[in-house]
Amino acid sequence: MIDIHCHLESNDYDNIDEIIDECKKNNVNKIIVSGYNLESSKEAVELANKYDMVYASVGFLPEVLQDSYSLDELEKLLSNKKVVAIGEIGLDYHWYKDNKQEQKELFIKQIELANKYNLPIVIHCREAINDCYEVLKNTKFKNAVMHCYSGSLEMAKKFIELGVYISIGGVSTFKNAKNIVEVIKEIPLEYIVLETDSPYLTPEPYRGTKNFPYYVPIISKKIAQIKDTDSKKVESITTANTCRLFDF
Ligand code: NI
Repeated sequence: MIDIHCHLESNDYDNIDEIIDECKKNNVNKIIVSGYNLESSKEAVELANKYDMVYASVGFLPEVLQDSYSLDELEKLLSNKKVVAIGEIGLDYHWYKDNKQEQKELFIKQIELANKYNLPIVIHCREAINDCYEVLKNTKFKNAVMHCYSGSLEMAKKFIELGVYISIGGVSTFKNAKNIVEVIKEIPLEYIVLETDSPYLTPEPYRGTKNFPYYVPIISKKIAQIKDTDSKKVESITTANTCRLFDF
């Protein structure tokens, strides 16, 4: 299995060697560590250089607009062979409501950068799903995934029509999960990929403690349960999807 999206920053984890070992024991064979600004993107690349099974996704979230930022600096990271995507990038109207146009421009510039390097994009979308959809509908991209999808079934179907994958994480295991359960039940397994978003959104029964990439099997079992199918089938199909998405 593959964790397509996690953060393993030294601020949050001091035992990366152990986490990597634990992943292998739990049949999690690749993880993609995601940046969201220049510093975290560089750290993701360093981890990818250090560990065989770690890959990096680099990108700028709208938070970088609060400060100065350089897309040239981001572009320098793309020559590294273990950078497999641009992300997380996207729109966040929960934290930033007053610069929607600037956010869209930053998002589109990074999609264009991904296209220049023939890379897929990993999308962060918070309280901005309609605008996110409009951007994707009107901008060419190679491959894309909605990370930690939290929208409606109707919108999920529209993203899938554009060829966008839907990434499922720990929220699907929460006792009050309703929307995402409906999404999982109704969309084809061929568009689902798995993530933990560590250290956030820890799945049950560990909710309330720190999250780890080796919890990915919990997500795949939950999807199997919701879709009333075999968890081996979920493992193999979501892994194949991930390999298509990221050119593994
Ligand atoms: Ni994230």
